[in-house]
Amino acid sequence: MGGLTILGIETSCDETAAAVVQRRADGSGEILSDVVLSQLDLHAAFGGVVPELAARSHVSVLDRLVREALAESGVALDGIDAIAVTSGPGLIGGLMVGLMTSKAIAMATGKPFIGVNHLEGHALTARLTDNVAFPYLLLLVSGGHTQIVLVKGVGDYERWGTTIDDALGEAFDKTAKLLSLGYPGGPAVEQAALAGTPGRFRLPVPMRKDPRLDFSFSGLKTAVRQMAEAEAPLSHQTIADLCLAFQTSVTASLDDRIAMALDRFAQRFGTGSKPALVVAGGVAANRAIRATLEARSESAGFRFIAPPLNLCTDNAAMIAWAGAERMAAGLPFDALDLAPRSRWPLDQEATALIGHGRRGAKA
Ligand code: KG4
Ligand code: ZN
Repeated sequence: MGGLTILGIETSCDETAAAVVQRRADGSGEILSDVVLSQLDLHAAFGGVVPELAARSHVSVLDRLVREALAESGVALDGIDAIAVTSGPGLIGGLMVGLMTSKAIAMATGKPFIGVNHLEGHALTARLTDNVAFPYLLLLVSGGHTQIVLVKGVGDYERWGTTIDDALGEAFDKTAKLLSLGYPGGPAVEQAALAGTPGRFRLPVPMRKDPRLDFSFSGLKTAVRQMAEAEAPLSHQTIADLCLAFQTSVTASLDDRIAMALDRFAQRFGTGSKPALVVAGGVAANRAIRATLEARSESAGFRFIAPPLNLCTDNAAMIAWAGAERMAAGLPFDALDLAPRSRWPLDQEATALIGHGRRGAKA
């Protein structure tokens, strides 16, 4: 198949986004436009995403963002080969807004329509940015998901591990909240930890050496709460020390789980071709976590790939790209009666674990 130009739309959580992406016949890609409107300010007062507010906000801005994405790309609707939209997992109200808009565009233009799994968008981004070859290992760490996924091909995934309680971003957010830091909590905790005293507080490393590749973060959050209560009233220094202890412990847990995953990957596929560990999701912005994962990848013979931050967090370029990859792989288009799915595991075989880290529906 020749080159493909895809319009992508993303409304599964609290970002409204539209983008136009091109995939060339050789498999390389280019982002022609990438417009994202974050609803952060809208939800900040509530300390989390309010689904009804999110859906209403998507309705009011999506038309404009699609027009902007097309205008910026320099491609007219005529020049688009297909419309790709996130059809799950996510908040149903938001998903419906994106689906209705993209179905209307597909119907009016007669173009093919592709429903994309949001997680597949995250999973395939590294092929857009770095042309990564299959198979590779993905660590997705966001506000809604914490997963280790083997990416074998387009539409072909094995989930190796997931969280049995909170997602990692969620754990950062809850820790920030109990220490009276702002929302979203990840950047605030990272910032505070810079001034922390190493070793003042020690927290356990969840799941260390556990033969399953899963994660658990809620016990840690409880431990931080108990320490904070014992130290109240909290000085700035104590808050910084607790943030550092929390960040150190989650980083060690990720390191332990990823070391095991890389080992398992190496046993199955070898490392002769220098395979990749790819990280995605908002938590991948954390410098301590990045540095640790990078060092671990290198010592295990892997390349470490972290897409630029704006492509690690939610965006529509990844949805357009996943649509292009699916179309190039000859996967079927979707019918215009496609329904949104609030839950939609990438790996259909994987069993749901208790809680499995879904706060509302963020990914
Ligand atoms: O991928 P993302 O932008 O949104 C979804 O969850 O879909 O991820 C947001 C999450 C939030 O929980 C936020 O606290 C966390 O990523 N995060 C961080 C950092 N920046 C964002 N966590 C730790 N350190 C950071 N620097
Ligand atoms: Zn996401």
